[in-house]
Amino acid sequence: MTTPQFPVEPVSLPALADQFGTPLYVYHQPALIDAARALDLSLAGPTPHLICYALKANPTLAVIQTFARLGLGADVTSGGELFRARRAGVSPEKIVFSGVGKTPAEMAQALDAGIRALHVESEGELSTLAEIATQRGEIAPIALRVNPDVDPRTHPHIATGLRESKFGLPWESIPALVAQIRSTPSLRLVGLSVHIGSQIVEPGPFREAAVRVTALSRDLLTQGVALEYLDFGGGLAVCYEDESPPTLAEWGSALRAALDDLPLALLVEPGRSLVANAGLLLTRVLAIKRHPDKNFVVVDAGMNDLLRPALYDAYHPIVSVTPRRDAPEEHVDVVGPVCESTDALAHARLLSMPQPGDLLAVLQTGAYGSSMASNYNSRPRPAEVMILANGEPCLIRTRESHADLVRGESLLD
Ligand code: LLP
Repeated sequence: MTTPQFPVEPVSLPALADQFGTPLYVYHQPALIDAARALDLSLAGPTPHLICYALKANPTLAVIQTFARLGLGADVTSGGELFRARRAGVSPEKIVFSGVGKTPAEMAQALDAGIRALHVESEGELSTLAEIATQRGEIAPIALRVNPDVDPRTHPHIATGLRESKFGLPWESIPALVAQIRSTPSLRLVGLSVHIGSQIVEPGPFREAAVRVTALSRDLLTQGVALEYLDFGGGLAVCYEDESPPTLAEWGSALRAALDDLPLALLVEPGRSLVANAGLLLTRVLAIKRHPDKNFVVVDAGMNDLLRPALYDAYHPIVSVTPRRDAPEEHVDVVGPVCESTDALAHARLLSMPQPGDLLAVLQTGAYGSSMASNYNSRPRPAEVMILANGEPCLIRTRESHADLVRGESLLD
């Protein structure tokens, strides 16, 4: 995929590190904007389309706001994400609420906000929502998230569209649920959605899922269900190492081809493909440890700041910000300070050997980087900076303080 890469060169990373400290997430706003525009172009067709940015990839307000200003909507998965989407200026009619377990309070929050639709994933959720809407004297707009039983052929931890997965409604349960919705005055079925997984590197699974759900919607339209949209989910991969994901044109035309001549709006919920390449994590080398069998570069960013390598064995390119010309290239493990053996950002990576105090940039960390950060080992979460079109850095999240770490806690009397 040809998502624009973060242009590391024009930005003075050492100056950013001096000004804002490390570890530091750095995003490039023009790269975010280019990614959104390119994705938008790939979906153009005879019926309207809407990109609902999947906030879970990066819910920092300024990132959401950047997309909202371009007219994008949001796919949220919790009341917290809904709050963020609204705070960042996303119009409610462009928000869809996905997720396998929504609380009654979250359902009420979604109805209060007047969002486009709640994507229902279980029969129980349907009944609870119907009850809440009835009590409020309202009609809740809903879409059914269907499990199409398609193998996304991705990392098992991020596959969601297989029969055995907890996500979506089983295919064969749909007719009965549709009948139930049609006989419930407080519910209105406006769409169908699928999302089969993340970091999907082949066009085939997208096509299969889209074709299946389109066929289903054709049946429902014939039965007189007033569907308004099909949501084909997110999942488009980026190239972190040597993957060759579908191009945006391949992906967009596969979705459009599946939709065919149906008079429905096309929705998508991309996360990673909009933000991954537009962000990097800047980290400073704390120590070099030479062990008999291995060399370790200990940096100040750990698995609490960037979990993907520890959790999925994910690959992120790492570059020296100011490589030492005289330093030999060596295979090193780049590790963080967290007290866990899995706390590594890279294994056996060839790097020109840095020295303590040097800066490294962990690339393509705009997606599922800061969003999965935690306070493990009581480490404050990093600051985040956005580089604007004029090259100026804007602090969009301050580094957490020690006081932030204990906010909300109390000592016993
Ligand atoms: N829609 C739904 C309902 C989802 O569950 C997801 C991601 C997306 C959209 C966005 O998918 P994307 O376009 O970003 O692939 N933490 C993992 C990724 C988990 C994805 C979960 N769902 C990682 O770091 O790779």
